Parts: sequence; C-alpha cells; structure tokens
Amino acid sequence: MVLSSSHFSPPKIMHSLPWKTIASTVALIQLCFLMEVESSLYLSVTDKITMLPGQPQVSFQQFSGYVTVDDKKQRALFYYFAEAEIDPASKPLVLWLNGGPGCSSLGVGAFSENGPFRPSGEILVRNEYSWNREANMLFLETPIGVGFSYSTDTSSYEAVNDMVTGIDNLVFLRRWFVKFPEYRQRDLFIAGESYAGHYVPQLAELMIQFNKKEKLFNLKGIALGNPVLEFATDFNSRAEFFWSHGLISDSTYRIFTSACNYSRYVSEYYRGSISPICSRVMSQVGRETSKFVDKYDVTLDVCMSSMLSQSKILSPQQVTEHQVTETIDVCVEDETINYLNRRDVQKALHARLVGVKRWAVCSNILDYDMLNLEIPTIPILGSLIKAGIPVLVYSGDQDSVIPLTGSRTLVHGLAEELGLNTTVPYRVWFEGKQVGGWTQVYGNVLSFATIRGASHEAPFSQPERSLVLFKAFLEGRSLPEAF
Ligand SMILES: *[C@@H]1O[C@H](CO)[C@@H](O)[C@H](O)[C@H]1NC(C)=O
Ligand SMILES: *[C@@H]1O[C@H](CO)[C@@H](O)[C@H](O)[C@H]1NC(C)=O
Repeated sequence: MVLSSSHFSPPKIMHSLPWKTIASTVALIQLCFLMEVESSLYLSVTDKITMLPGQPQVSFQQFSGYVTVDDKKQRALFYYFAEAEIDPASKPLVLWLNGGPGCSSLGVGAFSENGPFRPSGEILVRNEYSWNREANMLFLETPIGVGFSYSTDTSSYEAVNDMVTGIDNLVFLRRWFVKFPEYRQRDLFIAGESYAGHYVPQLAELMIQFNKKEKLFNLKGIALGNPVLEFATDFNSRAEFFWSHGLISDSTYRIFTSACNYSRYVSEYYRGSISPICSRVMSQVGRETSKFVDKYDVTLDVCMSSMLSQSKILSPQQVTEHQVTETIDVCVEDETINYLNRRDVQKALHARLVGVKRWAVCSNILDYDMLNLEIPTIPILGSLIKAGIPVLVYSGDQDSVIPLTGSRTLVHGLAEELGLNTTVPYRVWFEGKQVGGWTQVYGNVLSFATIRGASHEAPFSQPERSLVLFKAFLEGRSLPEAF
C-alpha cells in the first residue's frame, strides 16, 4: 500500500454521540471564547520556519507550530502553513485535511500530495504543482494524537469522534486567526479527502453556526476528494469497481453483492462480530485481489519496501530530482517517514514528539469511534448548499477504496433532492491537450469531477490535473472545456 489515509484500525470504543447535539456544544464553546484573552502570546513570528533541512531556495514564507485547543493547554494541534508563492495577500486561505481517521495532513497532504516539497533521500524537491501556487495552504494534523499533535493527558486519545474533531478544528482555526490576523477576513476554503468527507462538511457547518454569533469565517467553498459521504453507497461501490477492473471474478462479484456486501462486512467488523458468511466472502475477495495491488490506485505499482518492511526504514536508494518530478515516486511515504523523523527537521518545524517515539503517517495512539463512519454527511452538504456554499466532490478514478461511482451517485441524488438542475452537462474537461477527467455541475453550486488516472490521493498521482481542478474550484469556474 502506498499511502494509507483510509487505513482502518480495529474497533475499541463503541459509543458515539449524535451529530445533532453539536448545536448546544457550540454555544458552550462560544462561552469559552468569551473568556479567552487576546493578550495570550499568539505570535506567528515564533512559528516562522527559517529553512527546512535540504530545502531549495523559495520566495514564500512557511510557518509551523502548535495551537492549543483547550483552556488547560494540554491539547495542542500541529499545523504547517505555506504561504502562496506569489502575492499571498491577494490569494485565498485553504485549510487542507487528510482522513483516516487518524492520518496526517502534514505527511500525506503536504509532503506527498499538494504541498510545496516532497522528501527525496536527504533533501526536499520542489513540487511543481503545489497548491500554494494558487492559495495560502494550511495543513492541520487533526484530531489530537495524529502526527505531531498531542495531549499531555493520554485519555484525550480515547473515544475521539467526529464531534470532538469538529470542535477542536473550529477552536484551532479561531485561535490560529489570532496568530495570523491578516487572514481573518480572507476568502476561506476547506478541502480534504477520504475521511475528511466527514471532517470538512462538519467543520463547515460549525463555522456557519459560529458566524451567526460572530461573523468570523469567510467560507467560500469546500472541496472533497474521494470522500466518505454515505457509508453504504460509498463502500458498496467497491464490488463493481473490483469486478470491472478485473480484480475479482464473476462468481466472487456475485457473492460480494448478494451474500455479503462490503458495508455489511465493515459494519460487522467495527462491531467486533464478523459473520461466517462475510468472513468467507471477504477471504475470497482478498485472495483474488491479492495484497500486491494498491487498493488506493489499482493501476499503480506498490512500494515494495513499504509493504514488506515492518520497520519502514528504507534501504538507501538513488532518487534524483528528475525522477521525482517526472515520474511518480511510489515510495514517497517511506521518504516522508524518514524525513519527518529527523531531529533537525523536527527542530526546524518547531515540532515535538509527546508520548510517542516516532512520527507516524497514521496515528497508533488515537482511538477513534469507527462507528462514526456510518454518519451520513450528504445531508450536511445539502444544508451548506442551501446556505450558498459551493461544494465540489472530485474522484481520482483509479481508487477502489472510495470509487467515483458511489460519489457520482451521491452527488446526483443530492442535486435531485435539492431540485438543482444541471448547469454543466456531463462532459470531459482538459488539462493540457489531454482529458483530465469528466465533470457535471448542478445549479452552478454543486460540482462533481473525476480526475483521470488519479489515485485516492489524487494530487499525489495526478498533480498537474489536480492543480487545474483546484484552480477552477477556487475561481468558481467550471473546468476547461477545450484546450
Ligand atoms: C448490503 O447489505 C446490507 C445488510 O445485509 C443490506 O441491508 C443492504 O441493502 C446491502 N446493500 C447493497 C447495496 O447491496
Ligand atoms: C429546472 O428545470 C425544470 C424543467 O426544465 C424547470 O421547470 C425548473 O424551473 C428548473 N429549476 C430551476 C431551479 O431552475
């Protein structure tokens, strides 16, 4: 497996709070905000990165560090902020969130997908298609326990759920604005992928509620890549994807859609009671797909060192700058793990390891309530659209984990429910002289797009096409119709 931002850990905590109770909780946070003193030392200057080890010269500023999200200052979220390369004052602010739950927006997002650099051996090489060409990019390691984010009280890692995460993210951004007041009224977008199909809409909804009291978040849109939006539709799209890509046989497809479907299996798995029939079906599926295919991109080669070595320590290899920018480095995750575990890198980032020995791509200490997977976030997209917030759902079309077909069905269904007519009919879009994917827009506010040849981590495997999509999204334009 190359990147594991949809990695699921075994179930431990089984209770979950309904998302509805959030409104009352928000009232509570607002109280906390009233008590918060602005004079507390929140200065961006102490977070400024002088230079990351091995980094090429760049013209933009970078910052990273911590923002505490509780008043006892026990819980702190880590962020990395890369200002826009050109004229940051005129560019929007974009918060990027990776999924998991429990995977790092720094390691997966910034250093493997859409940030300015990618680690390569001892050095960092430029990502030509970094999203900070178009926006000021803020990468947040969330929830608590992910990456460099920590709590000094380890009970904070227990029973973490969507609600806790949403509120922490809101508090984070509120306090981050105290460090960076020049971004307070800036056009704000939230983007993310995978399980961020929960985080992003939930955070956006909290912002809208918060704005009713105090207009703080100038939210202009959200973008979701291969997102978990509705458990059954998303997960049951897997069978057809496997089958149509030749990963499973006709007979296995039949039992995977009749005897036990994937949503049932996952649901049983996280309740700790897998039925004999699901167990049988899944081992048949597993045997045929094999573990030598990356489920996040069924066409991409796997990084053998990452898959075969538990320690994830790379044997030295020669990777030139040319290779990294011209082709896909399928071992980028290993490179990132090595890089972010260097003492000099951690020092340059103002990062600390608290309660863990090593920085990990996906948290080993976070105990997330996995039954939250079953909370549908499609209705939240509906209410955001009603509040005038544009929504883009995009799909790397080689991903079997959250396949494009499920996302397309969900977006179409939402458009129908909201009575939004098609404003851009299903058609190809272009990047360069090639088809970048397909797109459809409803009511000029709800968009769906595929990225052709892209994995679950679309900006990782199709950086150029992803950047075109990102730019169009920020500008509120439909995707290029011609070349
Ligand atoms: C998946 O299985 C569940 C439980 O058996 C069932 O309720 C649901 O209708 C199935 N979904 C699909 C798409 O087959
Ligand atoms: C959508 O299209 C239908 C049929 O053409 C039309 O009656 C309706 O007014 C349209 N709705 C909107 C919101 O434009």
